Amino acid sequence: MAVLLAAAAFSTLVVVSGAGENSMSFIKSSCQSTLYPDLCFTSLARYAASVRSDPVRLAWLAANVTLGRLRAVSSHVSALRRTGAGESRTTAALSDCAEMLGDAVDLARSSVAEIGKLAAPSTAGTEIAWRVSNAQTWMSAVMTNEDTCTDGFVSVPGPMKTDICGRIRWAREYTSNALALVNNLVANR
Ligand SMILES: *[C@@H]1O[C@H](CO)[C@@H](O)[C@H](O)[C@H]1NC(C)=O
Repeated sequence: MAVLLAAAAFSTLVVVSGAGENSMSFIKSSCQSTLYPDLCFTSLARYAASVRSDPVRLAWLAANVTLGRLRAVSSHVSALRRTGAGESRTTAALSDCAEMLGDAVDLARSSVAEIGKLAAPSTAGTEIAWRVSNAQTWMSAVMTNEDTCTDGFVSVPGPMKTDICGRIRWAREYTSNALALVNNLVANR
């Protein structure tokens, strides 16, 4: 039933199409409330036709883009762990980081799903607040996991640390932006 309602909600939204220019400026101005507005805009502008001027759809797509980044970093770190090379500090840091990122992918996926449920037009105010709060909690937890992963590499020598911490920093910028756009959903109401 919930799936049917969500599907109906999306097809209703699709009928109400907006102008591309408006959508671009909506994305640009929404991105000003994030910590990395350029990254925000360049990563989301391609979805203008789908976003139109809907803050829920913008947050939803930003969360989905973040999920994609996290999946890529997670599989990179998991692949490095499987090679099993390196001394014990590296092995331990990789192992912890792979766990953290695996959980982060699950959290981001839950967050995307929760924001997706907000699109139903009949969604009541209390339900919106509840779902936004869940999405915020899970996206914040993703950032905590990213930080824990980075912290684990502090005493690890060599280029692997630079590589992994660089990738995580990038994913973290996406996560931070997605969280800011989710936060906007309550700030705007
Ligand atoms: C979500 O992101 C994935 C890539 O990570 C993409 O294949 C999919 O189409 C995206 N979903 C939407 C609704 O944009």
